[in-house]
Amino acid sequence: MTSQPVAAPVAYGWREPFSNEEVNALHAEAFGHQPVDDDWNDRVARLSLGWVAARDDAGLVGFVNVLWDGLAHAFVVDTSVALRARRQGIGAGLVEVARDHAAAAGCEWLHVDFDEELREFYLDACGFAPTSAGLVRLRP
Ligand SMILES: CC(C)(COP(=O)(O)OP(=O)(O)OC[C@H]1O[C@@H](n2cnc3c(N)ncnc32)[C@H](O)[C@@H]1OP(=O)(O)O)[C@@H](O)C(=O)NCCC(=O)NCCS
Repeated sequence: MTSQPVAAPVAYGWREPFSNEEVNALHAEAFGHQPVDDDWNDRVARLSLGWVAARDDAGLVGFVNVLWDGLAHAFVVDTSVALRARRQGIGAGLVEVARDHAAAAGCEWLHVDFDEELREFYLDACGFAPTSAGLVRLRP
């Protein structure tokens, strides 16, 4: 009999401290770009309702940023899960914590936009309803 690998326990933290280095590394891995030196701590302090960080024994495995309009609308952006921890429910877990905290902050709506390939993730696993939306590219 072969045994299946057991996923390490994951803890989700709302607005918990993180280092710019670990979020930059996770974002580059998740979105497949070269590492950059963004100041995520400054960014979320100025612009976000909050964020969710997911950690296992080895470090940061997931992150989502939650922007808002200060009133009714919150927006999840940059949902990221490390390659080594994909398809274990961590992405859906990040969004669930974001949703709970946006609701607790008094928001009425949680928004997301995504590429077609992630319909199953956002609509089925995370519970978003499909809607019409518009988008304009502002720079090439
Ligand atoms: C999208 C992302 C956050 C999903 O994270 P994850 O932890 O692997 O997702 P979950 O394990 O919670 O997935 C739950 C369900 O969503 C669906 N799903 C998840 N990723 C999917 C994918 N890439 N394609 C199709 N369906 C997917 C599946 O139904 C999955 O359940 P299953 O594993 O039992 O089949 C992760 O793949 C990622 O970081 N991608 C790169 C960055 C990105 O594109 N982020 C989204 C920006 S809008």
